[in-house]
Amino acid sequence: MSEPSPLRLERRGGVAILTIDREQRRNALSRELLRAFGRMGETLAKDRELRAIVLTAAGDKAFCAGADLKERQGMTENDVRAVVGMYRSDVFWLRRAPVPVIAAINGVALGGGLELALLCDMRVAAEHAIIGLPEVTIGIIPGAGGTQTLPRIIGEARAKEMILFGKRLSAAEAFEIGLVNRVTPAGKIVLDDTLEWIEPLIHGAPIAQKAALRAIDASAEVDFEHGAELERTFYDECLRSTDRVEALRAFAEKRKPNFEGK
Ligand code: COA
Repeated sequence: MSEPSPLRLERRGGVAILTIDREQRRNALSRELLRAFGRMGETLAKDRELRAIVLTAAGDKAFCAGADLKERQGMTENDVRAVVGMYRSDVFWLRRAPVPVIAAINGVALGGGLELALLCDMRVAAEHAIIGLPEVTIGIIPGAGGTQTLPRIIGEARAKEMILFGKRLSAAEAFEIGLVNRVTPAGKIVLDDTLEWIEPLIHGAPIAQKAALRAIDASAEVDFEHGAELERTFYDECLRSTDRVEALRAFAEKRKPNFEGK
């Protein structure tokens, strides 16, 4: 019998809920888990009905404790290089997914665990979550895109402080600097809270949402003039959509629009 996958997929309407399922190792990133992320990316890329992806993990202790340090113990330098390469080949799709990706951080998120969440478009954290990139304190640097994603989210100086000092932040501190969008109130499950919070996304206009995501993502990579040009191109895609016409009709008829992603 084959082993159960360390990454579970559940569909709730248009939302794909991905749950890292390695609670006994605090949901740490093993080779098998990275492979499962790669396969998941391929599966979800084919899903035309998808409206959003929520990434969370089993239990309430850890979202992900980073690299699987037990597995690493038996690895050669080249093995580690290969595993670090898998972040790019198997996990970076989270950053370029065609629908919004939201991390529901249910507990500790350290190192590669926080980097997973940083690849997402938005983050919601449980009140007790602790997050940080401690790599430098153990003689390495973040290897799953953290040096690139973190400064884009919280700015260069704060990113340097967090990474060089290996600082760990509470959910409230992370919220204060814009690292997480929302803190789930105590007593509420972060996944439930996240699903409620993203309701407007689920009922919104998918073509416009995708266009906005791509335009905003471009802002970190190209100069203003080029970005504004891209914005025009993406705007044009919305202009051609029947959803835009439906929104105008709904406004005139004083009802909620029914978007079909066309
Ligand atoms: N890789 C592999 N196993 C891990 C792990 C990791 N990154 N983090 C935790 N585990 C394992 C522990 O070894 C322990 O296994 P055991 O029961 O066989 O001894 C089990 O998960 C529970 O860990 P424990 O430390 O008892 O849980 P906790 O809830 O008290 O603390 C953490 C959770 C994540 C705060 C703590 O385990 C920790 O600091 N882990 C290391 C995180 C880290 O430095 N990651 C690398 C960043 S670069």
